[in-house]
Amino acid sequence: MHILITGGAGFIGSTYVQLVLERYPDDHVTVLDALTYAGSQHNLDHVLAEARLDFVHGNIADASLVDDLVGQVDAVVNFAAETHVDRSLLDPEAFMRSNVHGVYVLLGAARRHSRRLVQVSTDEVYGDVPTGEHSTERDPLSPRSPYSAAKAGGDLLCQSFVVSYGTDVVVTRGCNTIGPRQYPEKLVPLFVMNAIRDEPLPVYGDGMQVRDWLHAEDHAAAIDVALRRGRAGEVYNVGAGNERPNIDVVKAILAYLGKEESLIRYVSDRPGHDRRYALSWEKIRTEFGWTPAQSFEQTLRHTVDWYVDNPAWWSAIRDGSGDFARYYAQQYGWRLSAASAMPAQEG
Ligand code: TYD
Repeated sequence: MHILITGGAGFIGSTYVQLVLERYPDDHVTVLDALTYAGSQHNLDHVLAEARLDFVHGNIADASLVDDLVGQVDAVVNFAAETHVDRSLLDPEAFMRSNVHGVYVLLGAARRHSRRLVQVSTDEVYGDVPTGEHSTERDPLSPRSPYSAAKAGGDLLCQSFVVSYGTDVVVTRGCNTIGPRQYPEKLVPLFVMNAIRDEPLPVYGDGMQVRDWLHAEDHAAAIDVALRRGRAGEVYNVGAGNERPNIDVVKAILAYLGKEESLIRYVSDRPGHDRRYALSWEKIRTEFGWTPAQSFEQTLRHTVDWYVDNPAWWSAIRDGSGDFARYYAQQYGWRLSAASAMPAQEG
């Protein structure tokens, strides 16, 4: 198969590129990536020498480029997206362009060329899930942030192309994913970096929000199942069964690194912060036998080890004067100075 992997220079996308090249010796991969702040060609360094990999620098919203590329491949897997909730609260515009309009452009090309499109989506489209329940693929979408609303918009466009035009689309909705090469704005890589440097860890609110944690390699394996075996027009949830309150994840990182819990700062909460996401992933398990191969402990340790072993990768982002420094100052500057003026809370 020749697969167009959009967003293939990002975190989960680059993990998937590696999976395809390793697992399928006859497959060919074309990566289309806009190389925004969160993507880097360095994320493909370990596979770049591979002759079965082509790289195209461009945007999924570029209709003529996308049409040309989709016509040359057998299938498309779309990882290209703006993904960070906090950024969507500061500046939602880019989220609409990539996560809604970009998906629309990909759908149009998939329709014209009769190609399968796998749309990589998120558990966040279901919104906040009250204690105990698990979202199934039939649940209504109830997004609450500009990020999740834009992803839900993309998912609904997929549904409309399936119903209206019979386009071959499969949607996956994954839970929180960690592993090597995740841009260090997300909870786990940010806190690992800060802990390594003995800098404060800004926990939003009371730290009791619950997320389910999945290894990027397990996530990539589920997406591969969706591409090769998923039924056209279906949605597949991809969860891990590793629901943890954030504070437990934070304390596990500190314990593993041998750092003090006094680095924790409880800071002003994210507006509209969803308390819990929880997925039922019975469908992909019973239809195809997919389950995550790695436990929570293995997943977290492998992730932390990677950041410990690759300081050059994250220092280039963190210590540059570019995007990360600006974002960090805007997101955390006032939160951390307000927190240091408050007495420590118990999590
Ligand atoms: P994040 O990694 O941004 O993923 P998502 O919002 O998509 O779940 O955040 C995971 C959880 O960690 C979420 O409940 C927000 C919380 N969080 C903090 O408490 N502090 C932080 O600095 C960040 C980035 C996240």
